[in-house]
Amino acid sequence: MTCPIPVSKRSKWRFGIRTFLVLLSLIVVAIVVISCATVDRVIVAPPSIPGATFVGSESCSTCHEDISKDFKFATHSRQLAKGKNAEEAGVGCESCHGPGSLHVESGGKKGTIINPRKSPETCFQCHLDKRAEFSLPHHHPVLEGKMSCADCHNPHKGNMIKGGGTSFDSANETCFQCHTKQRGPFVIQHEAVREGCVTCHKVHGSVNDKMLTERNQNLCLKCHFQTQTIPGAAYIGGGVNGSGAGGHEHSGDWASATCWSSGCHEAIHGSNTSAHLRF
Ligand code: HEC
Ligand code: HEC
Ligand code: HEC
Ligand code: HEC
Ligand code: HEC
Ligand code: HEC
Ligand code: HEC
Repeated sequence: MTCPIPVSKRSKWRFGIRTFLVLLSLIVVAIVVISCATVDRVIVAPPSIPGATFVGSESCSTCHEDISKDFKFATHSRQLAKGKNAEEAGVGCESCHGPGSLHVESGGKKGTIINPRKSPETCFQCHLDKRAEFSLPHHHPVLEGKMSCADCHNPHKGNMIKGGGTSFDSANETCFQCHTKQRGPFVIQHEAVREGCVTCHKVHGSVNDKMLTERNQNLCLKCHFQTQTIPGAAYIGGGVNGSGAGGHEHSGDWASATCWSSGCHEAIHGSNTSAHLRF
């Protein structure tokens, strides 16, 4: 009896099957890995500490009662738990601080728990987009380790965005801690500042110089809208509602400079002498 397939061809065919099986198992592995990764994104993997396991937020309250008692009303506790027990949803203290068993057993020995003040990595696990924002050309130096997310955000108490939910004045207070020059007091304050620093600045990071939200006159035209009195020539209405001074022809200026260039509205946050925020 002769085999219908010649030996040489047969081994090639078997090699084909083997390759196919290897590829198939690779694909299966890949699918498993990808689906695990997807699951991981939903149940976010907390930071890890070698040798430590999770003990739950209750055990933290024994020694950090002051923090624990406020935490249930904090942004992360409220928003993450969504009505569920925070522990069930996996969003207790350890979601930011990592597993606490070694820390608890050692009675709080140094180096046994993560302190996010020292690194924002723990925040990026859930707010990955923020790493990209802080990598933009103009940014607050968080990735450089010169400041922390916690300089502007409350991790444990109340609103995560300091001053958020109350008034912009208190939100601005956060910025004044470090930027005293913009606080004034000014005889003539630019009313836009009262709307909040974030109306003009993207504070995590921006492609624009000085972390501005817009790089040109559009920053100002959001409020000082354009009135086309002479076709082709842009005017500033002066007031936000079109009233006020104004009427100065600006379109020529914009070709060569920004509204806040030297000689123009340099005192953009406020002035003690110039009603038009010139100096
Ligand atoms: C047995 C008491 C005890 C328990 C329980 C405990 N801690 Fe601590 N923790 C301490 C002590 C003591 C310190 C050090 C305080 C200091 O250095 O001023 C500390 C410091 C910390 C720090 C700052 C560490 C640093 O490097 O700056 C963090 C964060 C922290 N604890 C989080 C937690 C969390 C989260 C839990 C619950 C999983 C927890 N602790 C449970 C006693 C405890
Ligand atoms: C959203 C993330 C996050 C969660 C959740 C969180 N923390 Fe913190 N924790 C931080 C950050 C950020 C710091 C650094 C704060 C700073 O330096 O101003 C910190 C600092 C600490 C410190 C050091 C002392 C201090 O006040 O600076 C302790 C202790 C602590 N956390 C305990 C806890 C406990 C207990 C819980 C749960 C009830 C908890 N944390 C939940 C982010 C978090
Ligand atoms: C376990 C995941 C997780 C970790 C870790 C985490 N966050 Fe959050 N955070 C969330 C979720 C979910 C929300 C609510 C939904 C949203 O606005 O994206 C939120 C909301 C916020 C908000 C917006 C609050 C508001 O009022 O809009 C800020 C600010 C914030 N987190 C900062 C931080 C900082 C800073 C850290 C690190 C110290 C951190 N988060 C760590 C998941 C996390
Ligand atoms: C210089 C101050 C400052 C620093 C530093 C800072 N933030 Fe913010 N963050 C703000 C302000 C102000 C807002 C509110 C923005 C708004 O209303 O437009 C905000 C909003 C947020 C929000 C909710 C809105 C959004 O943009 O998704 C998240 C989440 C957040 N910050 C995370 C972080 C994380 C994570 C870090 C550290 C890696 C960080 N922030 C560092 C000032 C800061
Ligand atoms: C903990 C201190 C701190 C806080 C709080 C803070 N900043 Fe800053 N800010 C800095 C540092 C540091 C720089 C970088 C300065 C440098 O690179 O020379 C900076 C830079 C800036 C710049 C750009 C300046 C430039 O020359 O490019 C702007 C705009 C700014 N901050 C606005 C804000 C606003 C708005 C807030 C409030 C939401 C705020 N900052 C909160 C420390 C802070
Ligand atoms: C109406 C828009 C607007 C508002 C609101 C605003 N800024 Fe600015 N800010 C600017 C412009 C425009 C510049 C760039 C000025 C320049 O390059 O000379 C600037 C520059 C800055 C700088 C860099 C200053 C320097 O000398 O390099 C800091 C810091 C700053 N702003 C902080 C703040 C803070 C803090 C607030 C809130 C209290 C705020 N800004 C609100 C428009 C604004
Ligand atoms: C959030 C809205 C807002 C933004 C953005 C804004 N302004 Fe204003 N600005 C106001 C308000 C409100 C007043 C006070 C009311 C008035 O004088 O009409 C004012 C007043 C002024 C004045 C003094 C009034 C005058 O007639 O001379 C100048 C100059 C000015 N803004 C320039 C700018 C420039 C330049 C920018 C862009 C960097 C800008 N503003 C962005 C809201 C804004």
